[in-house]
Amino acid sequence: MKYLLAIILWAIVPTAAWAADAGIATAHPLATTAAKETLAKGGNAFDAAITAAAALAVVELYGSGLGGGGFWLLHRAEDGFETMLDGRETAPAAATRDMYLDTTGEPIPNASLEGPLAAGIPGVPAALDYLASHYGKLPLRESLAPAIQLAREGFPVDKAMRRHLAFRQELLRKYPETSRILLPAGKLPDIGDTIRQPELAQTLELLAEKGRAGFYAGEFAEQMVAAVKAAGGIWSLDDLKNYRVKEREPIRGEYHGIKVTTAAPPSSGGIVLLEMLNMLSAYDLPKAAAAQRTHWQVETMRRAYRDRAEYLGDPDFVAIPTQRLLGADHAARLRASIQDDKATPSADLKPVAPGVSGRGMNTTHFSILDKDGNRVAATLSINYPFGSGFMPKGSGVLLNNEMDDFSIRPGTPNVYGLVGAEANAIEPGKRMLSSMTPTFLEDGKRIAILGTPGGSRIITMLLLGTQAFANGENASRIVNRRRFHHQYLPDSIQYEPEALDADTLFELESMGHSLSPQDDAWGNMQAVILDKQTGTVDAASDGRGIGQAATVAY
Ligand code: DON
Repeated sequence: MKYLLAIILWAIVPTAAWAADAGIATAHPLATTAAKETLAKGGNAFDAAITAAAALAVVELYGSGLGGGGFWLLHRAEDGFETMLDGRETAPAAATRDMYLDTTGEPIPNASLEGPLAAGIPGVPAALDYLASHYGKLPLRESLAPAIQLAREGFPVDKAMRRHLAFRQELLRKYPETSRILLPAGKLPDIGDTIRQPELAQTLELLAEKGRAGFYAGEFAEQMVAAVKAAGGIWSLDDLKNYRVKEREPIRGEYHGIKVTTAAPPSSGGIVLLEMLNMLSAYDLPKAAAAQRTHWQVETMRRAYRDRAEYLGDPDFVAIPTQRLLGADHAARLRASIQDDKATPSADLKPVAPGVSGRGMNTTHFSILDKDGNRVAATLSINYPFGSGFMPKGSGVLLNNEMDDFSIRPGTPNVYGLVGAEANAIEPGKRMLSSMTPTFLEDGKRIAILGTPGGSRIITMLLLGTQAFANGENASRIVNRRRFHHQYLPDSIQYEPEALDADTLFELESMGHSLSPQDDAWGNMQAVILDKQTGTVDAASDGRGIGQAATVAY
């Protein structure tokens, strides 16, 4: 009887009525600690998300920051309201469709990747202000305080920072302001050396005092625009003034009784994830042998990524046939073209130019749940490690190179090997298509808050994560499972060391799949999982990164 009553109560009482544990998982221990402090001060998950994003902008500056953009998937416990804050960068008004092509129509090497011409108008500062004023409880002054302190007093170089600095030092050396801060005396800092960012501390203070106006208007904005223009960029003051955060209705679907709430366009993540899940739901995966299961997964990846290339872009600029793409008919039609024992060459689906493979542990994701049941899944980025490498003098802000996420020419792959067409062509004010996929999963027993960086591979990581959740796996197993990936083009299965065993690889090859083993692991998944019955929380940070998960019992 007591049990029955509990079930009825669960169905009618929002999570807020239950004192549950809190959980945080971010890509850096200092960001996890900072977010925990904000919860301890009485902030909610939304305040803690502001703290985490700002702290990551300081200590993981190669992945995200004030000069970038991102998506925050929110769940408000008191009324169950869910939304996605879209703080994605926009193309400047002076941007043109062919701005990265030379007079013969060929892409100019690195033009969409290096320097201020590669930078979209940042969305993160506006989104932090928006999050504080619409959803948070604390003033920005309080939620930004830990990040200001980390920027001013400094933090020790860790192995991930050192590795990323080494990887991109050639780019960083091109920009004096960037190398002054990140390569002191022209040298790569050692692990344990302190990186101080007094200019970034000042910029964060401006944001804390004046909200978005501190970044997008006044003297700060004027100086930033002047520096961008002097270095060959095309930003204007109006671009900054006109930047707006948008709220988007999340993409929703279901997979084997699991409610999936995920990223909406201008991210491709939610639609591609659900297309794959919709196709896969008809197969009995747990019963299938590993090679058969992997084959089906790969074939659904191939088909969903093909749709990505054709249909997806900024919904304010292009009409996306979302209903059709997510419909059962579409899944059935695509599934009918899958042969159980034979790979379908991508070229048979639709011819587009070949691509290169992506890398990836930059960009960042964090997952936060507070004791009242508010949730945040946020994936934030400046795109490639250290973004464009360019830092406007005096700002401490590394600008993104997110313009590369546009399709700079139909069929020409971006840095992650993704191709696109008309829907993702450059237009003034338009948001470039993303793969970032912050996601909530919920079944009868558990709620998961999940996401990861990893460029084009983000969406297939979420697919594997969702399936691991469906198998009842815990947070640690979900974030640490070995990964494989297919993205339509290039037409090969990429896989991490030890992701697929020798027999499986042999069988996949005999079905006609081409195999592309990768030396490096990829992704940096962060998961927080609430047990709905007990109110306990299980959280984990991907072992591939240096992040940390924490739970707080109430
Ligand atoms: O928005 C996107 O899809 C990319 N800019 C994300 C980049 C990323 O995840 C890099 N991490 N490896």
